[in-house]
Amino acid sequence: LSPARAAEDSARPLVMAHRGASAYAPENTLAAVDRAAALGVDWVENDVQRTRDGELVVLHDDSLQRTTDVEEVFPDRAPWKVKDFTAAEIARLDAGSWFGPAYAGARVPTLEQFVHRVERHRQKLLLEIKNPRLYPGIERQIVKVLGDEGWLDRRHVRDRLIVQSFSADSVRTVHDLRPAVKTGFLGTPPVADLPAYAAFTDQINPSYGSLTAGYVAAVHAFKGVHGKPLEVCTWTVNDAAAARRVAGFGVDGIITNAPDVVRDAVRG
Ligand code: G3P
Ligand code: CA
Repeated sequence: LSPARAAEDSARPLVMAHRGASAYAPENTLAAVDRAAALGVDWVENDVQRTRDGELVVLHDDSLQRTTDVEEVFPDRAPWKVKDFTAAEIARLDAGSWFGPAYAGARVPTLEQFVHRVERHRQKLLLEIKNPRLYPGIERQIVKVLGDEGWLDRRHVRDRLIVQSFSADSVRTVHDLRPAVKTGFLGTPPVADLPAYAAFTDQINPSYGSLTAGYVAAVHAFKGVHGKPLEVCTWTVNDAAAARRVAGFGVDGIITNAPDVVRDAVRG
């Protein structure tokens, strides 16, 4: 690591590139990972879903419509759900042109491809399990891919991987499958419910809009499943003023489309 990357490594709050550096490159593509790396950003967030033939791919929406040219390539396949397309079909799609001509030809990556690229840059992965109700058993599959790619060894598990979801059941399942893996629950549970979440998660990751210093302090007061104070990573903070505000609340991480803007705001 360069001295700058090493310093960033231990600085708080962590700055996490949402869907990659998605203000500057098409979200959830390898180009967005590369852009985060070029900005010196360690943490990359993504969204994982499953194709009809069981491949894990990285895409936010449950439909391919918004971020690919699927309507042109497969005009008769509305509503263009990820789960209704094979991996080979999805691999044909352009996932970059919608963002800008410079990214024409960018692809929807498989989870393997995405993890390889994050590893190549020596970055860290905040992996979101998206819509797990649509994909029974996806937690076990994700754990298998991470294991096959070498991401479940002690070095990765200790400080380079967090698995999160809006589904508490999904987070709990990951914890049960691989108790060593650090996990996060996306949402803002009532403080009274936090002990129940702390039985299977390390982080409570709320939207920043209605976040308060009091809530952050309340979360920090509980110990997470690995015995350390529950952490708070908030999303999606894209301007300097909001970044300073939530940093002032003492959050542990800020998930952002514009990691350079947030870093400048909170380290400046
Ligand atoms: O990482 C948190 C954030 O990504 C959750 O919202 O809709 O962007 O996946 P969303
Ligand atoms: Ca996400």
